[in-house]
Amino acid sequence: RTVYVNGVFCPEDQGRVSIFDRGFLFADAVYEVVSVLDGRLVDFSGHMARLRRSLGELAMPQPAGEAELLAIHRELVARNGLVEGAVYMQVTRGAADRDFLFPPEDTRPSLVLFTQASSLVEKPAATSGLRVVTLPDLRWQRCDIKTVQLLYPSMAKTEAKRRGADDAWLVKDGFVTEGSSNNAYIVPGDGTLVTRPLSPAILPGITRTAVLRLAGVAGMAIDERPFSVEEALSAREAFITSASSFVLPVVEIDGQRIGDGTPGETARLLRAIYIEEAR
Ligand code: PDD
Repeated sequence: RTVYVNGVFCPEDQGRVSIFDRGFLFADAVYEVVSVLDGRLVDFSGHMARLRRSLGELAMPQPAGEAELLAIHRELVARNGLVEGAVYMQVTRGAADRDFLFPPEDTRPSLVLFTQASSLVEKPAATSGLRVVTLPDLRWQRCDIKTVQLLYPSMAKTEAKRRGADDAWLVKDGFVTEGSSNNAYIVPGDGTLVTRPLSPAILPGITRTAVLRLAGVAGMAIDERPFSVEEALSAREAFITSASSFVLPVVEIDGQRIGDGTPGETARLLRAIYIEEAR
């Protein structure tokens, strides 16, 4: 694989970042994952708008302009012959003496990109559905910023696997915030699409924005409000969205079947129209 590190395209085993990099020492870094379908970037400008916001919230400098970042993404996709998968991009505050204080303003941010090939359209989980378990949301209170501070989500997903499930839904004060790396939705008996409103408690998913727009166009009723674990357990359907999963049905929560225990019609339809539009 060819990767990109601070202005240079190189073989992955030659990519180097300082051990003093604040991304490594303080998780002082933000990232984006842009999916690639048929060799094309999906919703690139949406991801860049969120990156700008994440950087702004952390008073971190822009590593490059959007046109340059687009050129780097495209070059990396081309060099790796990537047809389906994702481009991962990470920006850190750069390398500096270890100090809790932010380093001087002229510290050069680190910019790293790599590609990951994977099947996005043909996914077993699209037909089998996902099983999730609920776990307490022990993350910090700025989950709207896409930082690389991913230890707790990583622990939660690992605990979910240990319990025989596929992923975790995180719960705060009895209400679901989101999945370990995706946004969470339910469809109660009346057919309304319910998902938590944007706030510092969740990441503003780029796929979420697209899926809510497509659901509106398809004439679905949408209610952006928090939902409880109890309400999710008695819902007709549940599903998740993210750049790497698009839309995937959830068929079991904490060992209890959702609806009839098979992927729901809303999730199936939204997945199909999302993929159609992305192509
Ligand atoms: N995860 N919520 C969380 C906590 C996430 O980490 C993600 C994305 C999402 C969905 O956002 P989007 O639709 O923009 O991908 C929601 C990425 C894919 C990851 O960490 O790999």
